[in-house]
Amino acid sequence: MHCYILKADNPKIKIDMEKRLYLLLLFILICLPGLTQVKAPPQLGKDPVNKIVAAMTAEEKAAIVVGTGMRMPGAPSEASKALEKMSPVVGQTRDLVPGAAGTTHAIPRLGIPSIVVADGPAGLRISPTRPNDNATYYCTAFPVATLLASTWDVDLVNRVGQAMGKEVLEYGVDILLGPGLNIHRNPLCGRNFEYYSEDPFVTGKMAAAMVNGVESNGVGTSVKHFDANNAETNRNSLNTIVSERALREIYLKGFGMAVSEAQPWSVMSSYNLINGTYAAENHDLLTNVLRNDWGFSGFVMTDWFGGRDAVAMMVAGNDLLMPGNPGQTKAILDAVNTGKLDVKVLDRNISRILNIILESPRFRGYVYSNKPDLNGHARITRQAASEGMVLLKNGNSALPFSDEIKKVAAFGNTSYDIITGGTGSGDVNEAYSISLVGGLQNAGLTVDGNLSDLYEAYLKAAKAGRPRSRGFMAGSVPVSELSVNDDIINSIVNVTDAAIITIGRNSGEGFDRKDVAGDFELSAPERMLIESVSRTYHEKGKKVAVILNIGGVIETASWKEIPDAILLAWQAGQETGNSIADILVGKVNPSGKLASSFPVKYRDVPSAANFPGKVTATDQNQKPAEGDMMQAFMRPRPAEVTYEEGIYSGYRYYTTFKVPVSYEFGFGLSYTDFEYSGLRLGSPRFGRSLTVSIDVKNTGNTDGKEIVQLYLSAPSKNLEKPLLELKGFGKTRLLKPGDSQTLTFTLTGMDLASFDTGASSWIAEKGTYTIKIGASSEAIKQSAAFSLGKDLTVKKESPALHPQVKIKELSAR
Ligand code: BGC
Repeated sequence: MHCYILKADNPKIKIDMEKRLYLLLLFILICLPGLTQVKAPPQLGKDPVNKIVAAMTAEEKAAIVVGTGMRMPGAPSEASKALEKMSPVVGQTRDLVPGAAGTTHAIPRLGIPSIVVADGPAGLRISPTRPNDNATYYCTAFPVATLLASTWDVDLVNRVGQAMGKEVLEYGVDILLGPGLNIHRNPLCGRNFEYYSEDPFVTGKMAAAMVNGVESNGVGTSVKHFDANNAETNRNSLNTIVSERALREIYLKGFGMAVSEAQPWSVMSSYNLINGTYAAENHDLLTNVLRNDWGFSGFVMTDWFGGRDAVAMMVAGNDLLMPGNPGQTKAILDAVNTGKLDVKVLDRNISRILNIILESPRFRGYVYSNKPDLNGHARITRQAASEGMVLLKNGNSALPFSDEIKKVAAFGNTSYDIITGGTGSGDVNEAYSISLVGGLQNAGLTVDGNLSDLYEAYLKAAKAGRPRSRGFMAGSVPVSELSVNDDIINSIVNVTDAAIITIGRNSGEGFDRKDVAGDFELSAPERMLIESVSRTYHEKGKKVAVILNIGGVIETASWKEIPDAILLAWQAGQETGNSIADILVGKVNPSGKLASSFPVKYRDVPSAANFPGKVTATDQNQKPAEGDMMQAFMRPRPAEVTYEEGIYSGYRYYTTFKVPVSYEFGFGLSYTDFEYSGLRLGSPRFGRSLTVSIDVKNTGNTDGKEIVQLYLSAPSKNLEKPLLELKGFGKTRLLKPGDSQTLTFTLTGMDLASFDTGASSWIAEKGTYTIKIGASSEAIKQSAAFSLGKDLTVKKESPALHPQVKIKELSAR
């Protein structure tokens, strides 16, 4: 008689009594041939995964490393047909959770179930309704990642993750395809809303908090897109040429932190090539760096249809090919049979997948309710959203609205048609969303009805007349801003106490944004709206606040002087309107700060000259129509981009090269003031680590939280260094006026080190280091120096990912 001994030994998973009983039952069923259809596997003893692998046929092995394919509801018919051809239905497992992105193959005779994976970073993405079913399956649209990073609050992000993961569990999904942690290399990347920051330290901390939060439910995450996937244009074929130092310090760092601080169940490799090799086929990336250097122990999956050569992906350590197609299974089976692929490599990949499957809710037989606590999660999203909104300007203390402000005018299309999140796989099917106007009304303010009627009628007509979509997965074509003439503004100013103007932007998967009016720049009607409304209201002594309902950075320098206040609301999830109103009326004191810089003009961005890269083959037959994602998947055009700015991305560039910005990294205002004092170091010399403490006091009149940032300026003898780099941050609790809090940070050798490519090592150079505690990257409040007596090799890494060509990198020397 053969028995499985099943052990869920991931500490994150607390097996309660119910699950233990289930495991016992499963044990009995499997151990008693005749009672079950399950064919008894060989004696498994203590090591179930190895035993299962040993019991698998070659066909089963080639099947389990390839997903079950994908159906594309709503895709244009040509695209659907092409996809169906690539991914015919294999078994019935694809529809376990309708609308999920994919499933793995089951091997029923060995007791291995399919597991379900679903997007995405801002909340679970599944179909909200199902045929012949009256129930609904809505999920919470949480704030986008850019907003979450702007909270600088890892505990809050962890709580958002817990709530998100609960929906994953209760809707029967095993792995969430998120968080996304690519770096905001350029403000125009269409998916920046899914990513956290231009800074790898913020990115890594946020991602780790999110992964730990989601996975505390006993479900998995897949951190994506690994790696250097910083543009959407030609994303399936873009060869990213980048130095190893820039990779290690900027583009890999956040992933490394997420692995060491949260050990996610899986990693998703990206579509692009890195220095000539597809990420999914890149042994350096997926084995040398991810596993050997960082100790990753989960499995790697491709992005959807990513990579080209199934066998090369297996060898590189890309364990699972998603969504999977039978051609890949055949290629793997053939390669094993002909000896081209060592079966040991396949077994290794299978083991990694099985390790996770054995931890999954589906394997554990978790009985999901399809009823997560959506009301409770709405409260979490509302709070998280208001904590990550950034007050960019507050002239004459325009905000919060005083008690005299009872009736407001809401200008701007998106005051009525709020954008809760970006488009593509990162979009969530939520039950409702609160518009700005809805939020203002909920907060007890009256919103001018004539203006509302005008906008509502305009939006209805404009939406009826517009093309349905810009392409597969893209959002709807935006409605151009209503031009409101001066007569209307003149009549409305007399019946309202203040004006709000909302500026909206949306973007998403498959597209990058453009440096043009109506996208990075304001459109002419938006500019006129800000100018005319501000002029008219100011003439009457009334205030104007601009709300930025955007997913990525836009131009602000040319118009920011005009309105009284600017609140960067980001795309804040389904409660966006309520969260904005909480700040406008002073129920919440804003405490968000920027995790990405706002440049003066697009040309100032260090990657502006080469973003998003260029097509390297000009065969017109291969040219997909703009936005045709399916074409892009099937027949991508060869393209490349060189990261000439090297390590100087974001504030590392602006501060080192003294390029002024409109709003700097780390910037954000509050309704109160803070004083920093008493900076002290554990020692004037660095030993193995160093503690740093600072006192922060609320010196204003309103309760508030302050985000404190620790920057380090390092000596630069052999390796050049940016002027400063973020190495720590903390957020105070809600401080009452007069209250203080001490924040303490610990620096390790790694925080002092830079990557020396020649030595393949992180090296801290001897000399004097300066700690700069700031309210932003420019508002440094206190500094102190310490010394390092001799050069320190902090960590040796595998030499990896070298560019094949010489890169002319930006240098400050
Ligand atoms: C996206 C991934 C997503 C996957 C599954 C891809 O197109 O790039 O982020 O997880 O689809 O929906």
